[in-house]
Amino acid sequence: MDIEHKPLSTVTTVTIRPFHPADASQVLNIYFTGLVNGVDSAGHFAITRAFLHWTPMYLAYFLLISGGGILLLAVQQDIQILGLVIVLMSCGFMFLVYYRIRTTFLGYYQDGLRHDMTDISQYYRQDHEKDRNFIRHFWVAEIPSMTSESGYEVVGCVALDCSSKSDGPVIGELKRLFVLPAYRKHRIGTKLMRTLIAFAKEKKITLLHLETTNFQPVAREMYSRLGWYHASTTDSDFEAGGMRMSFVKYLLPL
Ligand SMILES: CC(C)(COP(=O)(O)OP(=O)(O)OC[C@H]1O[C@@H](n2cnc3c(N)ncnc32)[C@H](O)[C@@H]1OP(=O)(O)O)[C@@H](O)C(=O)NCCC(=O)NCCS
Repeated sequence: MDIEHKPLSTVTTVTIRPFHPADASQVLNIYFTGLVNGVDSAGHFAITRAFLHWTPMYLAYFLLISGGGILLLAVQQDIQILGLVIVLMSCGFMFLVYYRIRTTFLGYYQDGLRHDMTDISQYYRQDHEKDRNFIRHFWVAEIPSMTSESGYEVVGCVALDCSSKSDGPVIGELKRLFVLPAYRKHRIGTKLMRTLIAFAKEKKITLLHLETTNFQPVAREMYSRLGWYHASTTDSDFEAGGMRMSFVKYLLPL
């Protein structure tokens, strides 16, 4: 179904508005949660895959329990040492798997910090819009909050980045679409995307593209349901839990 005709429901008090510098720390938290450790983030998917659905990890659990049993029950010291070695090796394996996944996704997070997320106001400043080929915008989803001093909480974000140098059709990229886990499935993601699309049409952008990964099945489901079509898949060098991560591109003609 066309995204513009999908009904919005439930969280009716959500407001989509342009980013203010005061939102920076909340947005960085949403970005971290959405990429590295929140439910349905790519980092969380990789950890879950490696620790819950991967045969070598089951073997490590088995060795850990066996080594622990040997350590506790053996009476001879060399057998106890063997138990200890087995425990340390299995824990070491788990730590290495965790460390590799964590550093990979922290690396992606830091790439963003080195690029547009360091100074969101500066990167997505609105005077860029005077140039037809240089349209950048960052929106946040805000809900009223009794507990925060400002009276609101930022619960989601999305960015449009269009900086094509050519005179051809204007193509924009949808980036940084994240919603805090506690506020998901209330159509906030849809509302953010709908705002971005309306703005892109106003600016005469003719095609949108985005990149996600096969480690984000929820996001992919959302893009397919909202009319984006799959353009290409490219394997990355990274693998977790026996599954190779791929970068998946989607397109949406406007
Ligand atoms: C992807 C994401 C932004 C969706 O935000 P959201 O506010 O929950 O999205 P919506 O409520 O508007 O849902 C839109 C559609 O997405 C799909 N969807 C959302 N959550 C889903 C879930 N848990 N399981 C399956 N599909 C889901 C559904 O198709 C849904 O349409 P429906 O409500 O008609 O079934 C959010 O899950 C998120 O931040 N995920 C982690 C970060 C991420 O992967 N971002 C994308 C970067 S490429």
